[in-house]
Amino acid sequence: MKKIILTGDRPTGRLHLGHYVGSLKNRVALQNSGEFDKIYIMIADAQALTDNFDNPSKVRNNVIEVALDYLAVGIDPEKTTILIQSEVSELTELTFYYMNLVTLSRLQRNPTVKNEIGLRGFEKSIPVGFLNYPISQAADITAFDATCVPVGVDQLPMIEQTREIVHSFNNVYGNTLVMPEAKIPENELEQRLPGTDGKAKMSKSLGNCIYLADDAETIRKKVMSMYTDPNHIKIDDPGQVEGNVVFTYLDVFAKDEDFVKYLPEYKNLDELKDHYRRGGLGDMVIKKFLNNILQELLKPIRERREELSQNIEYVYRVLEKGTNDARKHAKETLRRVKQAMKIDYFENDEFLKEIIDKYQEK
Ligand code: TRP
Repeated sequence: MKKIILTGDRPTGRLHLGHYVGSLKNRVALQNSGEFDKIYIMIADAQALTDNFDNPSKVRNNVIEVALDYLAVGIDPEKTTILIQSEVSELTELTFYYMNLVTLSRLQRNPTVKNEIGLRGFEKSIPVGFLNYPISQAADITAFDATCVPVGVDQLPMIEQTREIVHSFNNVYGNTLVMPEAKIPENELEQRLPGTDGKAKMSKSLGNCIYLADDAETIRKKVMSMYTDPNHIKIDDPGQVEGNVVFTYLDVFAKDEDFVKYLPEYKNLDELKDHYRRGGLGDMVIKKFLNNILQELLKPIRERREELSQNIEYVYRVLEKGTNDARKHAKETLRRVKQAMKIDYFENDEFLKEIIDKYQEK
């Protein structure tokens, strides 16, 4: 069986450092591993509209922002097919048929959906399209015969729901859909990067993000105002490392080489943490260190992004070509699905033969 990746993002804002460690970096590594026969990345604009239907310009603008972020981090259109979801109408058709296989109560039990209903104030009245989006996500995944879906942990309930749909589709209509598997970041620290304010998650609505497109000065300011240990007031006070966002980020980003380059007084992070815990190490030192590391990481991404934005028609053509390529795959899956469901009336002359047998040869 072919090894195929499908993953995607909702275009509701620029991508940030949380996306980078939680998924983008992983996607680039998978892309360059050469292990996969095909890789699709979807800009899920139709899904974004399920809770932004009244703000279509936001979605339209962010399609390009997200595409810029992808290309800037090293997604290579020669190796990865980038597509726009709404332009592949086969996905909507698949969704409609899968809806028969899922109960309302199952959708309402989906933990990610439940959480989002709360965040969006949909408790009293939920748009059907929003509640339905896990089914549409199952269509996204199965349309491309994905075997592997690299996602953040918050998406695990979506993959679980997709697997249930695949299972019941194949049960009812015969073996047709490919069973996908989720792939989450191996490093637990990378699964959920906290915001600069120490809140559990980097999120646009909380205003605690470092964006891939941020300029050097903005990054510096955001690092300098990061949440540390509120009880570490004087430099000599003992400091706490746990829950201190600067250290959480250093755990994710600092390599031993970074110490050689930017902070040669310490060999590694353990030494730095020990000193902070003992007291005598100020927040400025650790923040400057983190700033140096993040600047080095983000500079080439930002520069590549700027370059690409000077050649925006190229980005447009990448999306157009990727979408057309992806549509062919989805069409083929839809054909298989309709055949399995016995709704392929005009695909070949089988149906005609069947009715002639039944109605004329008595
Ligand atoms: N739900 C994902 C998000 O919130 C986006 C998405 C849409 C997706 N379709 C997908 C992710 C298919 C993985 C596979 O970002």
